[in-house]
Amino acid sequence: MVSKVLVVDDEPAFESLICRKFRKRIRQGELAFIFAANGNEALEKVRENTDLDLVLTDINMPQMDGLTLLKELNRLNPTFKTIVISAYGDMKNIRKAMNEGAFDFLTKPINLNDLEVTVEKILKDVKKSKELERRLALSQVQLIQSEKMSGLGQMVAGVAHEINNPMSFMSGNIVHAEEYARDLIELVKIFQEECSQPSERLQEKMDEIEFDFLIEDLPKLMQSMKIGSDRIVEIVRSLRCFSRLDEAKFRKVDIRDNIDSTLMILRNRLKAKSDRPEIEIVQDYSELPCIDCYSGQINQVLMNILSNAIDALEDALGMKEERDRFMNQSPKIWIQTQFSQKPDWISIRLKDNGSGIPEENMTKLFDPFFTTKPIGKGTGLGLSISYEIVTEKHGGQLQIFSELGKGTEFAIELPIHQQSEENAIAAVKEEKSAIQELYV
Ligand SMILES: Nc1ncnc2c1ncn2[C@@H]1O[C@H](COP(=O)(O)OP(=O)(O)OP(=O)(O)O)[C@@H](O)[C@H]1O
Ligand SMILES: [Mg+2]
Repeated sequence: MVSKVLVVDDEPAFESLICRKFRKRIRQGELAFIFAANGNEALEKVRENTDLDLVLTDINMPQMDGLTLLKELNRLNPTFKTIVISAYGDMKNIRKAMNEGAFDFLTKPINLNDLEVTVEKILKDVKKSKELERRLALSQVQLIQSEKMSGLGQMVAGVAHEINNPMSFMSGNIVHAEEYARDLIELVKIFQEECSQPSERLQEKMDEIEFDFLIEDLPKLMQSMKIGSDRIVEIVRSLRCFSRLDEAKFRKVDIRDNIDSTLMILRNRLKAKSDRPEIEIVQDYSELPCIDCYSGQINQVLMNILSNAIDALEDALGMKEERDRFMNQSPKIWIQTQFSQKPDWISIRLKDNGSGIPEENMTKLFDPFFTTKPIGKGTGLGLSISYEIVTEKHGGQLQIFSELGKGTEFAIELPIHQQSEENAIAAVKEEKSAIQELYV
């Protein structure tokens, strides 16, 4: 990242002196200087360049002097730091400047080496505090996001639990209801055989209830009720699996269950809409062992990657120049699970034939807040959170391959075994004693 420095001095020679002194770093794109000849001009430049890191200002200048400039700058509540340059021995003004919030001072005639050391030191400091601020903002947002997800998870788990109880009466009884209906139909059929001449009253009732249709339809009806209840049971199971967000320990899970339950949650988004066809899911799962993971967090990763793929497909389908591509291929997401090349690791690949990612965006995808989506649609946190979950929480790898206008592929690789807490503590103890031995 380039550091920006504003130099305020009415001496024109100062500009070329600075450019010469810092020419290497300017050429390498590490430093950029902006110049102003007095306080007024400086204020204008500050307003134009909101990303300044440092202001270097002379005290004695025409129009607006350095001390007044400092006062004005203070009013803007700046994130940059200020160095004042004053005549040697002018302690009174230097003290005033420091009281106005100047960070450091240099005296004239300027020693360029001194200037370089001071600028370097302060820029390092500014960089550090900016990074700290960025991290703080990020961890705040992540905290809010994970709080939200865990709140949502708890709610989903609660609702799923509430549905689960009445649902188990229904799905448990439907089997018996089906059996009883079958028995009753058989019994009625025997009655019919034994009593081939039904009374008038019986015949009337049979006509009224459309007996023949009822006998034929009842088994079909019971069957479709069974399919419906099985589907609800499956949805409830997926919701419960999906909502395990705040588990504190690794659990052994079949990753394919996580993929299926995430797809179940996203099913509505995959369906055909008035302006686009259905998004097809092609699954290719190989037989894999269960892996140690935080299941809810892995669901969050799958959810982020699959939602992005759906967004990219919708994007491509909405673009005139891209739409022709879908004349002979349907919008698709391929999901493949297999053993990774690394021993004892598995790999999950999620590929779409959506809009693809421009080359210049590839290095920014995991940056927090990087988004190409309109305001209100994307926060730019999905991939940065996913990256953290895969790499830091699970010691895995997350890679992206993309071709503009063709599609994007995400490769998640995860170790099958995670160190349990006891193992981790034992490993730390071992390492400690190994280090102690080195010092003995
Ligand atoms: N499958 C994909 N195809 C094309 N572009 C993608 C794909 N996945 C991610 N991107 C690009 O990466 C950017 C960052 O993704 P990320 O998930 O981090 O944020 P987002 O989707 O924009 O917002 P949100 O925080 O709601 O997830 C997206 O804005 C998009 O430009
Ligand atoms: Mg996203």
